[in-house]
Amino acid sequence: MPVLNNKDLLGIKELSADEIKHILDTASGFKDVLKRDIKKVPTLRGRTVVNLFFEPSTRTRTSFELAAKRLSTDVINFSVPTSSVVKGETLIDTALTVQALGADFMIVRHSSSGVPHLLAKNLRASVINAGDGTNEHPTQALLDAFTMREKKGRIEGLEVVIVGDIAHSRVAKSNIYCLTKLGAKVRLVGPPTLIPDGIAKLGVDVYYDMDEGLRGADVVMMLRIQMERQGKGFFPSTEEYFGRWGLTSERFALAKKDAIVMHPGPMNRGIEISSDVADGERSVILEQVTNGLAVRMAVLYLLAGVKA
Ligand code: CP
Repeated sequence: MPVLNNKDLLGIKELSADEIKHILDTASGFKDVLKRDIKKVPTLRGRTVVNLFFEPSTRTRTSFELAAKRLSTDVINFSVPTSSVVKGETLIDTALTVQALGADFMIVRHSSSGVPHLLAKNLRASVINAGDGTNEHPTQALLDAFTMREKKGRIEGLEVVIVGDIAHSRVAKSNIYCLTKLGAKVRLVGPPTLIPDGIAKLGVDVYYDMDEGLRGADVVMMLRIQMERQGKGFFPSTEEYFGRWGLTSERFALAKKDAIVMHPGPMNRGIEISSDVADGERSVILEQVTNGLAVRMAVLYLLAGVKA
């Protein structure tokens, strides 16, 4: 059943709950493959994947590269700083050039919202959004949902608290779309300056008080303060931010006893999360990274239109 009928994955907003569930189920199969001695399958042999990252990345770029290699594709990591982009070649000319070399998939990260959508309109290749500005980061939300389902056995009815810099976070947007479609109850917590007006219309509850927002949570997802996307003045100091919205073990005790803590990474330890929580027994932060590999294999596989 080729459920990803579009050639591209641009956002969670465009996906149905059934499509999301199908990606998660397909990823479960790939997670089993990744536990074998031989972790590679020939499924996409002969295809070419190009990582086109105009912004830094550790997890997403590495994970897509490895996912593509596990599916036996050829992978090119396009290096923007050493490319003809620095000579003024446009984004679309760059992408068309890479496509002319045989790219079947282009994994795109860019600081401007909408860049993957623009490329998708201009390319035959499948475009996967690896994070566009403050808009979406769909594979992050999919791996987060996969991890929640694995740890909690369900997503429907879970109380999920997302804390921090909601305004600048593409991870928060994709997670809000994903979790509300799957029936979770989503609370957003943070300073009023970092929670956009009107966001409640997406079906979430907003809290400015961290202790109130954390009570009874099943999942606490901490977000990085995105200094690179902020001007100054959203909060007085990082010390004050940590004091009011940082996750410490004392605060985490307000969530359910079996609550898990998540973070998409990279973390700012001591600003949004303390090290004892980040490294504690109920942290699934590194499991999120591991699950990203299976989820990205599933996305490449389903977009390739290969029947299961
Ligand atoms: N979560 C995430 O997108 O991490 P990277 O920026 O390291 O890819």
